[in-house]
Amino acid sequence: MCGIVGYIGNQEAAPILLDGLTKLEYRGYDSAGLAVFDGENINIVKAKGRLQVLRELTGDGKALKGCIGIGHTRWATHGAPSVTNSHPHHNAKETIAVVHNGIIENYMKLKEKLIKKGYTFISETDTEVVAHLLDYYYNGNPVETIAKVMHRVEGSYALGIIFKDHPDKLYAVRKDSPLIVGVGEHENFIASDVPAILKYTRNVYFIENEEIVELSKKDVHFYNSDVEEIEKEMSEVKWDISAAEKSGYEHFMLKEIYEQPKALRDTISPRVKNGEIVIDELTMTEEDIKNIKKIFIVACGSAYHAGVNGKYVIEGAARIPVEVDLASEFRYRNPILEEGTLVIIISQSGETADSIAALREAKSRGIKVLGIVNVVGSTIARESDNVMYTWAGPEIAVATTKAYSTQLSALYLLAMYFGKVKGTLAKEEYSDMLKELMLLPDKVQTILGDKENIQFFANRYVGAKDVFFIGRGQDYAVSLEGSLKLKEISYIHSEAYAAGELKHGTISLIEEGTLVTAVLTNEELYKKTISNIVEVRTRGAFVLAVTNEDNILDKETADYVIYIPKTHKYFTSSLAVVPLQLFGYYVSVGRGCDVDKPRNLAKSVTVE
Ligand code: F6R
Repeated sequence: MCGIVGYIGNQEAAPILLDGLTKLEYRGYDSAGLAVFDGENINIVKAKGRLQVLRELTGDGKALKGCIGIGHTRWATHGAPSVTNSHPHHNAKETIAVVHNGIIENYMKLKEKLIKKGYTFISETDTEVVAHLLDYYYNGNPVETIAKVMHRVEGSYALGIIFKDHPDKLYAVRKDSPLIVGVGEHENFIASDVPAILKYTRNVYFIENEEIVELSKKDVHFYNSDVEEIEKEMSEVKWDISAAEKSGYEHFMLKEIYEQPKALRDTISPRVKNGEIVIDELTMTEEDIKNIKKIFIVACGSAYHAGVNGKYVIEGAARIPVEVDLASEFRYRNPILEEGTLVIIISQSGETADSIAALREAKSRGIKVLGIVNVVGSTIARESDNVMYTWAGPEIAVATTKAYSTQLSALYLLAMYFGKVKGTLAKEEYSDMLKELMLLPDKVQTILGDKENIQFFANRYVGAKDVFFIGRGQDYAVSLEGSLKLKEISYIHSEAYAAGELKHGTISLIEEGTLVTAVLTNEELYKKTISNIVEVRTRGAFVLAVTNEDNILDKETADYVIYIPKTHKYFTSSLAVVPLQLFGYYVSVGRGCDVDKPRNLAKSVTVE
């Protein structure tokens, strides 16, 4: 959500800013802009729509001269997407320019105060308040000025700032919105995320809340909110630039679907040693684990769906009661968090505002938090008591695929580990599960080999109006994810229902030709779900079934069947989700939608 890039060095800034913003497109945006300092003036160019418009306006950046600049892609919150509302914003004299990711919650109060002092506003944004506030408090010392502004604004922000009076400096500050600093040779960068700068450097600093950064082309200095200089440790980004490029695939989403076998292997293998699950990063003792009385899994969107699945596995394998909550609900519902509770926060980005708030709510009540996070060094990773990284690598497509799959595998590992420690998993079952866990990547690969079958079916349904997904138990949990994948990228209305719940209202929506996708991978529930299939087919539904290869369904039972390899009953969702992802993907392609950047969505939801 909103992307920030900043550059200071010997090269022309604008092309580098545009390149960086392109790498951040996945975050979602509806307008974009650049501010480049040419040694005399700060020149600003902004455009509504895709980055291509900004490229055309600036001749690929060549029209904007100067070696210091800031760039921004805006996902509208306060004020409609428009040239005026897009960033950078500036003070009246155009001596200060600022880009912002986040929300200034007290902006109305600040705006009123500034208007009384004679300031004039031209946009509807909360960010313009920051530009004028910087002007109001400016005392010739940017770090002191930024600190003053920081003490006045409430909410979340990552800011990139240039001051005309300081032509050889670039400034940044953050609170609750992501920001990193990249360190190059005679050039330095700021960015919302690593892919924006990876072409230039692997050396990064992760900025903590309320830290101010002053960059020149040679140095980077950090200050706390009391304007005291602080030391920080540099990190090296281990993954490769190719991980953030399409590498010949038509879309990032397809590439990421295909990366799932590797992502699963990378997440599972390092945690299996000598036939045992070892989760080195957990600081919990066996005693701590035995004392867990209840687990809350808290997350948003697909990460929440992974949590719904995890509940079945943890309750089954470790016999610990699990409650799964949407982070946006958990944070405000005053949950009962008693001693012996563990809160698990699942997040790909580690920057989702509601998930961060849920984490802080739990911690403020003295509850231990375990984060299952993909982005190294993200806020959730840093603030959790324990972090289990999912090693999916960078995920660029807005619709998650490989990160979701690795979240499932992390939950399996945890469930089995807890089950072993608590003695609730029989030895034989533990080894059977372990064997199947290690085979999951290959089985996912097998399903990918059958993609034409799903593509063929998807092409028939590009015109669908409503699609229902049904299943029981974990098949219901994966149906939630299948339904979200389809609707978010193809804009076809879709719902997932626990199959047994259909009769209680939803079945009245079934008409002649309505597509119902039924997931039936749990042997104990085959018959029950087949009865539900019969019910919808009798009312005219066309049924696509996803089931295990040993559960042969005849034409009388389902209209079209996708068979997946057999695995342990707890892991079937990891296989069933693959055809559902491919189905969503191919329907979206068939409808000509922007698969990787669906409308109105952002990859990282950093505002509430
Ligand atoms: C859907 C999707 C979203 C995210 C959700 C949480 O495909 O990607 O529903 O799962 O926004 O994001 P993270 O995992 O970054 O907290």
